[in-house]
Amino acid sequence: MAEKILVCVAWPYANGPRHIGHVAGFGVPSDVFARYHRLAGNEVLMVSGTDEHGTPITVAADQEGISPKALADRYSEVICNDLYRLGLSYDLFTRTTTANHYAVTQDLFKTLHSKGYILKQNALGAFSPSTGRTLPDRYIEGTCPHCGYGDARGDQCDNCGKQLDPTDLIEPRSKIDGSTPEFRETEHYFLDLAAFIDPLRRWIDDQKHWRSNVRAFSLNLVGDLRPRAITRDLEWGVPIPLPEYAERDDKKIYVWFDAVIGYLSATVEWARNTGQPEVWREWWQDPGVRHYYFMGKDNIVFHSLIWPSMLIGYGNGIGGTLGGASGEPLNVPYDVVSSEFLTMEGRKFSSSRGVAIYVRDFLERYDPDALRYYLTAAGPESQDTDFTWAEFLRRNNDELVATWGNLVNRVLSIAHKHFGAVPDPGPLHDGDRELLAHIEEGFAKVGDEIALARFKSALNSAMRLADRANRYLNDQEPWRLVKEDRARAGTVLYTALRAIDSLKVILSPFLPFSAQALHEMLGYRGSLAGTLRFEEVAEGNGRTHRILTGDYRGHDGRWEPSALAAGQSLVNPAPLFKKLDASIVDEELARLERQSA
Ligand code: MF3
Ligand code: ZN
Repeated sequence: MAEKILVCVAWPYANGPRHIGHVAGFGVPSDVFARYHRLAGNEVLMVSGTDEHGTPITVAADQEGISPKALADRYSEVICNDLYRLGLSYDLFTRTTTANHYAVTQDLFKTLHSKGYILKQNALGAFSPSTGRTLPDRYIEGTCPHCGYGDARGDQCDNCGKQLDPTDLIEPRSKIDGSTPEFRETEHYFLDLAAFIDPLRRWIDDQKHWRSNVRAFSLNLVGDLRPRAITRDLEWGVPIPLPEYAERDDKKIYVWFDAVIGYLSATVEWARNTGQPEVWREWWQDPGVRHYYFMGKDNIVFHSLIWPSMLIGYGNGIGGTLGGASGEPLNVPYDVVSSEFLTMEGRKFSSSRGVAIYVRDFLERYDPDALRYYLTAAGPESQDTDFTWAEFLRRNNDELVATWGNLVNRVLSIAHKHFGAVPDPGPLHDGDRELLAHIEEGFAKVGDEIALARFKSALNSAMRLADRANRYLNDQEPWRLVKEDRARAGTVLYTALRAIDSLKVILSPFLPFSAQALHEMLGYRGSLAGTLRFEEVAEGNGRTHRILTGDYRGHDGRWEPSALAAGQSLVNPAPLFKKLDASIVDEELARLERQSA
């Protein structure tokens, strides 16, 4: 039975181009998942956008001497282009600077405030004596009071995961210039997270299907929750929607409070863009719809604790603009899928230190499927993982090209050359039937693994099927048979073509570009999974913004075995993948040295 699945993908900061570590964490896994579910006949909505508020943006804008909006405009476009070129099939990739997002964020703030979950309190705010400006939490570093980690940030310790206030840090220092921050009394709004400890604990305890690291990590933190500031001394952000702030410009809503709301506001925008403004409710107010969230591990608390608190606190939202007069509660996450970190040639990615491979640069030299393959096969799915160019070369040449690319090439070349079309099969032998049955079983196996977010294992299972087809070909030797027994050669090639036609579907969530190319070489005319496109959408206030969207429904692809018909014309095949020269390793290492010098 068709299910509705909301795929919520972490929102990348629009403060610079994305590097491959970012797309390894949130991008490729979520897209494999969404593509599989669409093929399996489920209704998928995949939403995200650029995260454009907060100090990550203002600090970068200050460095360039431009406005935060100008900086966010530039990088939102760059990021959108990268995601497009990687084939990440968002139904809506939007931005947090839209009028709609502001309205939805303010609705949540007002409703939580009117229900008593947002409290006004004085807090110590950090100021930089050297610049005279407020110093954002993320730009204060020091030693974690809980675990002694020396590079804890003012909002969170990346080592033990505890949430922190800058005043908790031992020997705090400004990340911008190393100076010691001064703390002054300032008024802020706080989300009363302590009010949600009991319902959160009960709920997380029930989520036995979460990856154990996410569940254990969240359960470990839930008891320590305390009110957390959700406003900041910044001019850039969503305005505080309370009368006393109507005329003030000095404080704004904290970026993380507005960013997580993006999942909801993007669904509202998507509904409006499709001309049915109320259909967002079918995705958020029907408890049968499953919400899957994809992110890197530094984002877990926001998705497993803070966003669910906001959703629980908002309740049915009655009286608010979304809830209306008879609202239903909003769905909490079904799964929080987090990946670990990718390092690069043994070092931590760092844009400021030039230790990064940007998606844009990567795709100028290599194909998107080669990157998608690597990041799935050797990415940080469940442990921190190192990217190396030598391993990229090996995976590309020895696996993608040698196993899958060559299989396709061998079968299609002989079939095209000797038959020009899918041959008419004679009676199938046991070995033919066994191969087809084996691949048929692969649909269930690989599909189940993807649905459980075990992408690495799913891809491995798919590649073992390609191995099996290679063995079949080596045993049957169709290149010999065409000279000796043309009828039998036709049967073998028919069997092999059906096998690669099925494998095309099984591999397409991972390798959508080559799958489409193969689809066409097999003589199909249509699109396997639809295409992505940019659109400029009107906000109703005279402004427009650019989105990434696509049309992914009603195309040729089905998560089921090939029904390739005899007689279908074949196209003269071109190689699906490029074999890379070993010299790229040294070239790339030299490039990295120059860039980080
Ligand atoms: N911008 C954040 C980051 O890059 C992720 C935000 S995810 C969302 O770490 F929850 F805010 F959407
Ligand atoms: Zn710590």
